[in-house]
Amino acid sequence: MNAKQRAALGAVPYVKDGMKLGLGTGSTVYYFIEEVGKLVADGMQLTCVSTSERTTAQAVALGIPVVDLNTVDRLDLVVDGADEIDPNRNGIKGGGGALFREKMVALAAETCIWIVDESKMVDALGDFPLPVEIVPFGYLHTVRAVEKLGYTGTIRMAGADCYVTDNGNYILDLNLPKGYDPYAVEDALRRVNGVVETGLFLDICDIVCVGAADEQSIEFSR
Ligand code: 5RP
Repeated sequence: MNAKQRAALGAVPYVKDGMKLGLGTGSTVYYFIEEVGKLVADGMQLTCVSTSERTTAQAVALGIPVVDLNTVDRLDLVVDGADEIDPNRNGIKGGGGALFREKMVALAAETCIWIVDESKMVDALGDFPLPVEIVPFGYLHTVRAVEKLGYTGTIRMAGADCYVTDNGNYILDLNLPKGYDPYAVEDALRRVNGVVETGLFLDICDIVCVGAADEQSIEFSR
């Protein structure tokens, strides 16, 4: 069993019969969804909302019921991965490009659990580039407006083309200095026309399940 699997197993006991459950995206959540598939196969009743087309495809293949976010008022729980988490449980997401739907679903959930291997736990944010989802129309203007704030970055590519999110948008990956103030960066970016969402998830995560390579997963909560 690897560290991502251990992290995923740490979140499984939080899944209860009858829950409305948000399913995150990524290689760690992949293992969690596999476990949810087993619970459903064993008869657990769950109503799930997905954060990406990838996750939907995996869940549906496992027989997990997936509904549109609009059909539920609130979710009981969301389980997702993360790219970096600081000691305040603030984090960066969007390495897999699903940040917009991930944040929508997380904000609709009573409890948010992140499952990560220990490499994701950092003293301060800044090593992982911050993904920012931007509208394709006039995107070079959006990039210049972001650069005027003093931030530099690159448009994420998929081969020779710009990477396109499930929402039809582009991702601008920003390189920020280690230890930056995530609240200030979030405020500044959200004022830029053309920015749809940032990968900064601030005061959203309640519980982190950290998987180590050779130990039980460790849990941190507020
Ligand atoms: C996708 C995400 C992922 O949760 C994040 O990138 C972590 O992925 P992984 O578990 O594969 O390391 O935010 O947009």
